[in-house]
Amino acid sequence: MRTLIRKGRIITASDDYVADILIDGERIALIGRELDATSADREIDAAGKYVLPGGIDVHTHLDMPFGGTVSSDDFFTGHRAAAFGGTTTHVDFAIQGKGESLHQTLQNWHERANGKAAIDYGFHVAITDLDDQVMEEIGRLPEMGVRSIKLFMAYKGTLMVDDETLFKSLMKAGESGVLVMVHAENGDVIDVLVKKAIAQGNLSPKWHALTRPPSAEAEATSRAVRLADIAGAPLYVVHLTQRDALQAISEARARGQKAYAETCTQYLFFTKDDLDREGFEGAKWVCSPPFREVEDQQALWRGLRTGDLSAVSTDHCPFNFRGQKDLGKDNFAQIPNGVPGIEDRLYMLWDAGVKNGRITPNKFVELVSTNPAKLMGIYPRKGTIAVGSDADLVVWDGSAHRVISASTHHQNVDYNLYEGREVHGKAEKVFIRGNLVVDGDQWLGEQGSGQYLHREAPTWL
Ligand code: URP
Ligand code: ZN
Ligand code: ZN
Repeated sequence: MRTLIRKGRIITASDDYVADILIDGERIALIGRELDATSADREIDAAGKYVLPGGIDVHTHLDMPFGGTVSSDDFFTGHRAAAFGGTTTHVDFAIQGKGESLHQTLQNWHERANGKAAIDYGFHVAITDLDDQVMEEIGRLPEMGVRSIKLFMAYKGTLMVDDETLFKSLMKAGESGVLVMVHAENGDVIDVLVKKAIAQGNLSPKWHALTRPPSAEAEATSRAVRLADIAGAPLYVVHLTQRDALQAISEARARGQKAYAETCTQYLFFTKDDLDREGFEGAKWVCSPPFREVEDQQALWRGLRTGDLSAVSTDHCPFNFRGQKDLGKDNFAQIPNGVPGIEDRLYMLWDAGVKNGRITPNKFVELVSTNPAKLMGIYPRKGTIAVGSDADLVVWDGSAHRVISASTHHQNVDYNLYEGREVHGKAEKVFIRGNLVVDGDQWLGEQGSGQYLHREAPTWL
């Protein structure tokens, strides 16, 4: 199948120009002006529209057992929702069970995706139980197409690891070409604060934020950065929310460390006051780290502009309000941590970022696609629009607007954090490796057509 996309305004991280794109099979074959249409099987008029590389979300949790339940989007519903939001690739976290080999962990996650995947995907492995065999397996992860591991410095008693484990992992990963990602919050401190709040009868959702103070994130971020420095290993801090934590990243980068961080869409829009909404409503906003202050949002926007923040991901980890979040209706510590957003990322960032003049279209592409592709070892196959790259393309109508709502979204969850927001921009047509999977409001994709990505070494920023 050959598709000609005509006269779109092509945006990459560095370029902005009007041209035609010829897709041949799964790849971009030609980019130029007035390309000959006679050899194309279909022609798409993109005049007046943008053409963007497909979004890449490197922080998701589909079908993940967590907090006594399982995240509500699986590898089909989550993928379909992602595609409707212009995201064509994601990297999900495969979580090691206690005593489990990393090979087995990956098998388990491949089984979740097999036959369901509708966009392309890769895996990070989250290490929760490090022994000699697992250490040795870290060195073999690149053979399995895995180039990143994650360590949790929080969630004491379940996912959290100690500094020794983090440090040994950093050393082994660093010498093996594997990038270490951290959830940076001081889990010991949080555990003490949570127990104290419960003992004092402070049980409502807002206590989730009050027991996870900003300094718990700033301290853990600084510690992780320093441990990575001692180990001589690159570091990627996931879901950074807070100005002092960002400062730790900026300083490390200024010292020449390979220290990277992402923030997630939601941290640009909500504050800890959202956890104090009427009744139990605040549970919808329970995620870790928690939402912060307006000043932190401002710092995050600055970090995105300066490059100290390299990417915007979603940490999509949806739980239904009814039947899942309400596990914690009598105790905030029982509320499953996580929020939905895989479908909303491009919309929210385009609207508040590009439309509002905070970032340029090029910066937008860099944050949602190019940098994630580079750091996750899938560039230039993904993350850009170039001859030879996968034809993962979004025809984006910058002038369209729509209202975000759980009643129209495709995420398998009964609420939307951004309910009622009017946003500019629309992923009008979405191609994955040359296949048109979203056309307006129509789903044309196929379960099982998503491909596992064998990732290579990162392209450092
Ligand atoms: O609350 C969150 N973020 N849930 C997902 C797991 C994690 O910490 O990333
Ligand atoms: Zn986390
Ligand atoms: Zn996460």
